[in-house]
Amino acid sequence: ADDPRIPAIQSRIRVVPNFPKPGIMFQDITTLLLDPKVFKDTIDLFVERYKSKNISVVAGVEARGFIFGPPIALAIGAKFVPLRKPKKLPGKVFRQEYDLEYGSDCLEMHVGAVAPGERALVVDDLIATGGTLCAAMDLLERAGAEVLECACVIEIPALKGRERLNGKPVYVLVDSQ
Ligand code: PRP
Repeated sequence: ADDPRIPAIQSRIRVVPNFPKPGIMFQDITTLLLDPKVFKDTIDLFVERYKSKNISVVAGVEARGFIFGPPIALAIGAKFVPLRKPKKLPGKVFRQEYDLEYGSDCLEMHVGAVAPGERALVVDDLIATGGTLCAAMDLLERAGAEVLECACVIEIPALKGRERLNGKPVYVLVDSQ
């Protein structure tokens, strides 16, 4: 908690009011990526936490889980599996719908990408309502994997996304500003 890398990461996240809609404080991680030292510190914090946990699969949520997931997977010696928005994956898929504020969205994962009994970590940039991570975990569990934890850079605590995850732990580096 007192790791000096954490405030540096926090300081590199740009908060953009009223994007993409009025009332939303958008948490922009592209500014963090512009600082290679801070980007590396972000990855390292996750790698230090997960390197000795026998994780065989890192599942990243489209789109920004595709930025943070692969370097973590490579560093801990796990495979990387993309969880994609609908109709992007060419093979047979597991599909999981989830509710948004208005309407619903969907994530898909290739059947056969994950084998029963694999130990999985789910990675995304941010947890808001928790609906996305919930759908991501459902996909992995339908494939027979065990989800150890979800990992995000940012949490919006006011939205209480943790309460939606049925007790599954979420590890986050910083709270939204
Ligand atoms: C954002 C964020 C997470 C999700 C979190 O993605 O990157 O994936 O919302 O929200 P939740 O906890 O309420 O489910 P976004 O919907 O902006 O999609 P994108 O990454 O494709 O732009």
